[in-house]
Amino acid sequence: MAAARRPLIAGNWKMNGLVSEGRALTAELMALLNRGARPFEMLVCPPATLVSTISTAARGSVLLIGGQDCHADAKGAFTGDLSAEMLKDAGASAVIVGHSERRTLHGETDQTVRGKAMAAKRAGLTAVICIGETLEQRDAGKTLAVLEAQVLGSVPEASRAANVVVAYEPVWAIGTGRTPSPDDVAAAHTHIRKTLAQRMDNADATRILYGGSVKPENAATLLGLEDVDGALVGGASLKAADFWAIATAIG
Ligand code: 13P
Repeated sequence: MAAARRPLIAGNWKMNGLVSEGRALTAELMALLNRGARPFEMLVCPPATLVSTISTAARGSVLLIGGQDCHADAKGAFTGDLSAEMLKDAGASAVIVGHSERRTLHGETDQTVRGKAMAAKRAGLTAVICIGETLEQRDAGKTLAVLEAQVLGSVPEASRAANVVVAYEPVWAIGTGRTPSPDDVAAAHTHIRKTLAQRMDNADATRILYGGSVKPENAATLLGLEDVDGALVGGASLKAADFWAIATAIG
């Protein structure tokens, strides 16, 4: 990994965590982070109901807080939605956009995701833009073409490394315990970076995370790959010890 890219270990809690659970997990992570400087940044993305609580609890620590989704508009008649500005106001510094669960279960297209990434930039949040192929696409040999189309469709023009992170999450690897081979992950990340260069000047400085069944057991292998700049972790981010083990696998 290029020295300029500081690794990012991000936890996506998905729809998990009541106030008491979120507070306890945050306290454990802060205690670990407070032991000393680490060569990575750590971000947790709790459910929206916890963003404010956890941001307040994490004040003064290096733990970063993010949302899991946002609307493209700043405000308006969108019942149930949240704007990037609201997440920022609640203490977030980042937001995940285009997670495969949003793309699949909520019909989000690359264009929708792009609008959300632009909203994140407008609000001063880092957008963690998720992309990834389905098993069917992989089996048809279309992985790199799918990733390329998703990058070009989802990443806004003139993005900067400071406000965009890309997360490569093969849909078939999410929550399944299966991961692509290290060679396949490396090839995907290299291709994503090459494609990103069409969207931004500093693609070399942009962090590309791997996500999908990252566990303490496979973290060192995945995070040790050339163009892998961190991880977006689902299930294993709900246990402080596991999440920490993944983070520290980075060295
Ligand atoms: P798992 O780590 O549970 O496979 O989830 C990955 C994910 O979707 C993170 O956004």
